[in-house]
Amino acid sequence: MPHPLIVSAAVRILLLGGTAFVGRAIAEAALRSGAEITLFGRGRTGTELFPGVPRLTGDRDTGDYAALRGGEWDVVIDVSGYVPRHVAQAMAAIGDNAGRYVFISSQAVYRHEGLKAGAAEDAPRQAPLRGTEEMAGGNYGRLKVACEDDVLARYGDRATIVRPGKVAGPHDWQDGLTYWVRYGAHGGLIAMCADVAGTQIELVRVPENTAPPYFPLIRPVWATQQRSAAKARAAGMPATPLPVTIADVLSWDRERGEPPLDRGFTPQQQARVLARFG
Ligand SMILES: NC(=O)c1ccc[n+]([C@@H]2O[C@H](COP(=O)([O-])OP(=O)(O)OC[C@H]3O[C@@H](n4cnc5c(N)ncnc54)[C@H](OP(=O)(O)O)[C@@H]3O)[C@@H](O)[C@H]2O)c1
Repeated sequence: MPHPLIVSAAVRILLLGGTAFVGRAIAEAALRSGAEITLFGRGRTGTELFPGVPRLTGDRDTGDYAALRGGEWDVVIDVSGYVPRHVAQAMAAIGDNAGRYVFISSQAVYRHEGLKAGAAEDAPRQAPLRGTEEMAGGNYGRLKVACEDDVLARYGDRATIVRPGKVAGPHDWQDGLTYWVRYGAHGGLIAMCADVAGTQIELVRVPENTAPPYFPLIRPVWATQQRSAAKARAAGMPATPLPVTIADVLSWDRERGEPPLDRGFTPQQQARVLARFG
């Protein structure tokens, strides 16, 4: 994922988040670009990261933004906003002390019905959801829609909405690509992962109903993840070649000792399924 973030030197950036995965990559890129960054969070995640970078402590769950008082930034990048209350309270605390408010939204805002691969940013979104902070049952995307609307209503031309598809790379806490990289490297499943790891594999098709739900990166239809990147490319967004991302994930996963993953087959389940269908 490491990309040059295109910002002028010494731009002052406040990151709401910035120490786990997506935000961490943004923070790294911003520092590489010469920006001055400030991190806002509870002080729980990645506390060892970015020595010397100022950290403000607060909590979006309880609405504690007191640490932002008196600050001024060219850009605020909101990576940790999931529900309208998060963005409303952050925007109330920041007000006009930010030149631009960048909200990290998601591909999940798009309506699935009728969406074809290759759709652009004007594809229809789902209806906004308000009055709940419950993420279950597909609420995530609709809550992000409401957040987008509120950020645009408050900041207008000074708002930027970013809708990532599946983000992959080192420090991914969702075990997406990591699962395939690890199994490919061990001689289990995807060809490119195995190539990067220098191992040989044999692909074995197993019935879909043997797989646990939310299998990493596998959905029957996933058009929201196959959108056109043309506008982003035209604006200068580069792409990391997949083998590079795989190699980065492989070395990160090995370095951290390959801890158990939350999704996909466990090694024991995989052995059982392969014994039956392999
Ligand atoms: N991963 C994907 O494939 C994907 C796809 C589309 C969109 N996204 C979007 O990317 C963002 C997720 O990125 P990430 O988690 O990797 O970001 P991150 O900014 O690297 O990590 C989350 C940050 O939020 C802080 N945080 C968590 N709870 C908080 C709270 N209650 N109050 C204040 N700060 C809090 C954490 O620090 P503390 O724990 O110290 O508070 C941490 O710094 C989300 O907006 C998600 O919707 C991700």
